[in-house]
Amino acid sequence: MFQTRIAGIGHYVPKNIYSNHDLTRFMDTSDEWIQARTGIQERRFADRFGETTSSMGIAAAEMAITRAGITAQDIDFIIFATLSPDYYFPGCAVLVQREMGMQEVGALDIRNQCSGFIYALSIGDQFIKTGMYKNILVIGSEKHSFAMDFSTRGRAVSVIFGDGAGAVVLQPTDDSKSGILSTHLHADGTDAEKLAMYYPGSANGMHLDNPPVWPDVELGGLFMTEELVKDGSIFPYMDGQAVFKKAVVKFPEVILEALTKNNLTTSDIDLLIPHQANLRISQYIQKVLQLPNDKVFNNIQKYGNTTAASVPLALSEAWEAGKIKPGDLVCLAAFGAGFTWGAALVRF
Ligand code: COA
Repeated sequence: MFQTRIAGIGHYVPKNIYSNHDLTRFMDTSDEWIQARTGIQERRFADRFGETTSSMGIAAAEMAITRAGITAQDIDFIIFATLSPDYYFPGCAVLVQREMGMQEVGALDIRNQCSGFIYALSIGDQFIKTGMYKNILVIGSEKHSFAMDFSTRGRAVSVIFGDGAGAVVLQPTDDSKSGILSTHLHADGTDAEKLAMYYPGSANGMHLDNPPVWPDVELGGLFMTEELVKDGSIFPYMDGQAVFKKAVVKFPEVILEALTKNNLTTSDIDLLIPHQANLRISQYIQKVLQLPNDKVFNNIQKYGNTTAASVPLALSEAWEAGKIKPGDLVCLAAFGAGFTWGAALVRF
């Protein structure tokens, strides 16, 4: 069995910056409300046309591949995590394969929302460990801005999310003491509808108390209707307080699970990089785990919640800022829709 190391890290954020104040042009909100509840000051939004989830993922991937000292031709498997793919199908991984001129390598898309990158990392880790692949490209990328309700009706959700991408290259190493020490994945579907985008979907709103009026047709025609657009059902739904309550329990739980598995304690962590869901959630985790400020990395202030991109985007910025040194123990953790959550311990 091999150990998996992170050989290259990269990220990309769109150039368009929207401050909290900028959002007041579209909805009834304020910088005070957003900062007090989430810590977010600004976020990036991709160009409306021309910039996509896959193109941002490719930009992040190019950086990670260069930093790993390889070329796109060396990649032998692609894993792409996103909840905002370019198309309903096919997924984004095949678009990366095509646009980066890679070999006819396997290309996998996974749908695990905010914990998508941790799930993707874990999948990549298994393939490297068994010796099946030698250079796996793992991407997390999101273009939330195309599917948010930027009117006052959608403000509780749309002020939180932003666009961006992050990527890593995974390679085998013989050093049994470094690399990914372990990954831990969990899910609880009980509250699957508490953070969700219901449409388009074959359930057709059957779980809702008041589903939209459907067109009078015998077959088909339910994929996307005028009613769904008009009443806002097409936009993501979030029960923010339910998410918050579950996240503050599951984040520390899975981090402690990872530490215990490796006979480590919180004092062994050199840097915790939590999924950037909400600064208040990160601060709560920090308090529970009793970690000092310099051991927790947050960049949600600049980017908002970028879902599957948030962990690799933060990892890349932390690495660029010199906050990760050889030998450091880095803990990555995430929680999100599903609910799904997970953690990874990585020795650099
Ligand atoms: N600007 C101004 N006011 C807003 C607003 C906005 N963007 N969004 C909602 N409000 C209003 C509500 O309408 C409500 O007004 P009311 O009291 O007159 O009815 C009030 O603010 C409080 O709303 P509420 O939803 O109870 O706020 P909250 O304190 O729960 O904060 C979240 C909302 C979303 C910030 C908070 O629940 C949260 O952070 N949850 C976790 C979300 C998360 O992390 N999601 C990512 C998952 S990975």
